[in-house]
Amino acid sequence: MTPSRESIEHQAVSAYRKHFGATPLTVASAPGRVNLIGEHTDYNEGYVLPAAIDRATAVAAGPRDDDRLVMNPGSSQDESFALSRLYPSEQRTWTDYLTGVASMLQNRGGVLRGANMYVHGNVPRGAGLSSSAALELAAALALIEMNGLTVPRVETAKLCQQAEHEFAGVKCGIMDQFISCLGMRNHALFLDCRSLAFEHVPLPHGVELIICDTGVKRALAGSEYNRRREECATGVRILSSKRGNITALRDVSPGELQESRGLLDPVVLRRCMHVVTENDRVVRSAGALRAGDLSEFGKLMYDSHLSLRRDFEVSCPELDLIVDLCAGSDGVYGARMTGAGFGGCAICLAKEGFTGGVIDRLNAGYRVKTGRKPSVYVCSIDDGARATRLATHSVNNQEN
Ligand code: GLA
Repeated sequence: MTPSRESIEHQAVSAYRKHFGATPLTVASAPGRVNLIGEHTDYNEGYVLPAAIDRATAVAAGPRDDDRLVMNPGSSQDESFALSRLYPSEQRTWTDYLTGVASMLQNRGGVLRGANMYVHGNVPRGAGLSSSAALELAAALALIEMNGLTVPRVETAKLCQQAEHEFAGVKCGIMDQFISCLGMRNHALFLDCRSLAFEHVPLPHGVELIICDTGVKRALAGSEYNRRREECATGVRILSSKRGNITALRDVSPGELQESRGLLDPVVLRRCMHVVTENDRVVRSAGALRAGDLSEFGKLMYDSHLSLRRDFEVSCPELDLIVDLCAGSDGVYGARMTGAGFGGCAICLAKEGFTGGVIDRLNAGYRVKTGRKPSVYVCSIDDGARATRLATHSVNNQEN
C-alpha cells in the first residue's frame, strides 16, 4: 500500500530528530504529478491538465546558528553549503534543487538563516513523475515557513521553476511546479500557462487512474527537451516574421499552421503541429471532463499520444507498447505517455472495477515483449504542497 502523506512527513521528521538531535521547526511536503493531457504545451504558453498524485517528498527543517544549509547528514548523500555562496554543482546532483530554491528566495530579497534539513520521499526518480518539482516545492515551503517569509503560491511555483532552469539546467515550463504547489485532491488542474489562470476540474466518480512505469530512464530528457524547446522557438520566429501577433505557438491555430506549412522545414513543422493540435485537445478535454464525458476524454488521450509519437517524437517503443496494451483492454477510456517522454511513465484512465484486469494484461504483455516487468499501480489524486509548523520558535527574519 502507498504510504500516506502524513507518514512520509513523519518519516522525514523522525530522521531529522535522529540525525540532528532536535525537533524540526517545520515539515513541508509536495506531491509528484501526472499530466492527463497537454504535453510540451506549457513552454509554448498553451494549456495543460495535470493532477497531483499520492507520491510525495517531505523536507523537515530547523534553524542553525551559522549560514549553512546542511542536508541529510549521516546518509551517503550528506551535503553542506554556505548560503552566501550558492551555485549549481558541476556533477548536477539532487542537492541542486534545494540550493537552487534557497538561492531564488534570496534573490527575491528573502533573508534566510542557516538550516538543517532532512529530505525523505517516495516519488520515483527519473520516471517522469516530477520528483524534482516535488523536492523544489517541499524545500521552498519549508524555507518560507522556517524564515517567516510571505510568498504567494503562484510566485512560489515560479521561483521553483527558475531554480530548475538555473541550477538543474532544464528549461522546463511551469506545469510541474504549478501542479505540485496548487493541486487539489480528486481534481485535475486546467491551467492557462500564459495568464496562469487556473481551474480545478473534478474527476468524475467511477474512474481510476493507472500509472505504468516503463522503467526506461530518461537519459536524454534534458538535452532533447531543450532541443524541442528550440525547435518550437524557431517555428515561432519564422511564423511571426510572416504574420504579426505571434509571440508563442499558443497564438497559432491548427488551420493557420496548415496555411503556413510551406514556410517551415519538415521537422519544425511537425513539432509545431503537435503543439497547436495538443492545445486544442486540452481545451476540449477540459470540456469533456466538466461534462463527465470520459469516452471523449479517452479519445483525446489516444490522439495526444499519437501526436507525441509521430510529430513531437518523444515517445519510445515501451511507452507505445503500454498504450497499445491499454487500448486492447476492457474498461479503458484512454491512455497516453505522460510528462516529457523519452521513457518514464504512461497513464491509463479505466472504469472502476476493471483496473485489476488492465494491470494483469499490462504486466503479462510487457513481460512477453520486453522481458521486463513494468511497475504498475492505481494512484489517487492528492492535494498540492503544504507546510506544518511543529515547534514554537522566534523567527526575526523579514523579507526586504
Ligand atoms: C517536463 C517539464 C514540463 C513540461 C513537460 C512536458 O515535465 O518539466 O514543464 O514541459 O515536461 O509537457
